[in-house]
Amino acid sequence: MNHFNYQNRELHCESVPVAKIAAEIGTPFYLYSGATLTQHFKAFDGPFASIPHLSCFAVKSCSNIAILRLFASLGGGADIVSGGELFRALAAGVDPAKIVYSGVGKTREELEYALKTKILQFNIESEQELEALQEVAAQLGVTAPVSFRVNPDVDPQTHAYISTGLAKNKFGIPIETADQVYAKAMQMANIKVQGVSCHIGSQLTLVSPFIESLHKIKIFTKKLAAQGITITHLDLGGGLGIQYDDETPPHPDDYAAAIKKEIADLNCTLILEPGRVIAGNAGILVTRVHYTKHSPTKKFVVVDAGMNDLARPSLYGAYHAIRPVSETDLGSEVADVVGPICETGDFLARDQKVPVSNQGDLLAVMSAGAYGFSMASNYNSRPRVAEIMVSGEQYHVIRARETYENLIKGEAIPEFLMASPDSEHRKTSKS
Ligand SMILES: Cc1ncc(COP(=O)(O)O)c(C=O)c1O
Repeated sequence: MNHFNYQNRELHCESVPVAKIAAEIGTPFYLYSGATLTQHFKAFDGPFASIPHLSCFAVKSCSNIAILRLFASLGGGADIVSGGELFRALAAGVDPAKIVYSGVGKTREELEYALKTKILQFNIESEQELEALQEVAAQLGVTAPVSFRVNPDVDPQTHAYISTGLAKNKFGIPIETADQVYAKAMQMANIKVQGVSCHIGSQLTLVSPFIESLHKIKIFTKKLAAQGITITHLDLGGGLGIQYDDETPPHPDDYAAAIKKEIADLNCTLILEPGRVIAGNAGILVTRVHYTKHSPTKKFVVVDAGMNDLARPSLYGAYHAIRPVSETDLGSEVADVVGPICETGDFLARDQKVPVSNQGDLLAVMSAGAYGFSMASNYNSRPRVAEIMVSGEQYHVIRARETYENLIKGEAIPEFLMASPDSEHRKTSKS
């Protein structure tokens, strides 16, 4: 369920016509529905209400501070993977005691920042990272709460680039040998071992891989218990998929029921790190058609958003439905919807059924709320687009469109180039 619907053939986000926002702030822009974000958070978190749990929204999926604030107000925490994401979460008002820190390459500076902030848990992914954390915690004279991310070698049956729980992936510590790292951590003066964590991939459309990894984790926790190591926190990561096209992902109710049944005897606080399932279908990318043209074999619809704004189609060959902002009687056709970037891989839709559109028409790229803006770049020196959040009849600019000045902020021409013969020449020829 989401709140992007047609009223009188005009696409609305809640009660606001999308065309009105485009007319007032220009295109392209990301548009999020506050009501949908709220509804999706509650639909995911609600079924776990009967057990001790915490839903830590995966900041990487959609990192605007207004959105993080919304989830914090609903009782959620944050799953972060960098110092920058920690900074964002704190700026948004997320309670540090509800922040978990994942990622294979945390720097000492980032560890120090998170220790000073007193976050809930570090999800450690290697022995060397554990050693670094012990050292930094000792220097600060504090204790670091730790969980180890285990790699259960389970196939999540999703795109290879977003599979993370296979033995060949860079993530986590092999579950077969992870007990040795736990034993080592137990001897460390500034480490408090509290959990096991696991994240096997993203856009999972089956419950079975989650359950398969839980089985392995349960066996693993018994192995730890036999060594006198008690686990109080179980972090199952994120990964629940959404419908982009014709996928049929499990409903959060079914996902939760299967997990709750499986962990009933574990006596742990459950931590979840949902991203896509909450934000994915709560946001769209609105773009305008610049030009249309034909090659001998194709029609191209050239729009003002490109792969720098939404990387998923180019990066993963991902499908995003394209809908008209104003419905017409022209029907649909197979075409490529492409951006202005100088790359053949710059497309939002390829050989896809899209609305027949003409110069100036507005198009909505659906299901773009997760891994959309947060993956955007300035490639081709394109300012990043605005982000808008609708709440009922109002819309709010939650991130201003970048300017050309933003593009060169922090760049500098060193003195030696200022004094180069060519610039000397230019100076002289100007005067
Ligand atoms: C450690 C971790 N947790 C949570 C997530 C969020 O995953 P999703 O957006 O599929 O829920 C990711 C995404 O890759 C991740 O790497």
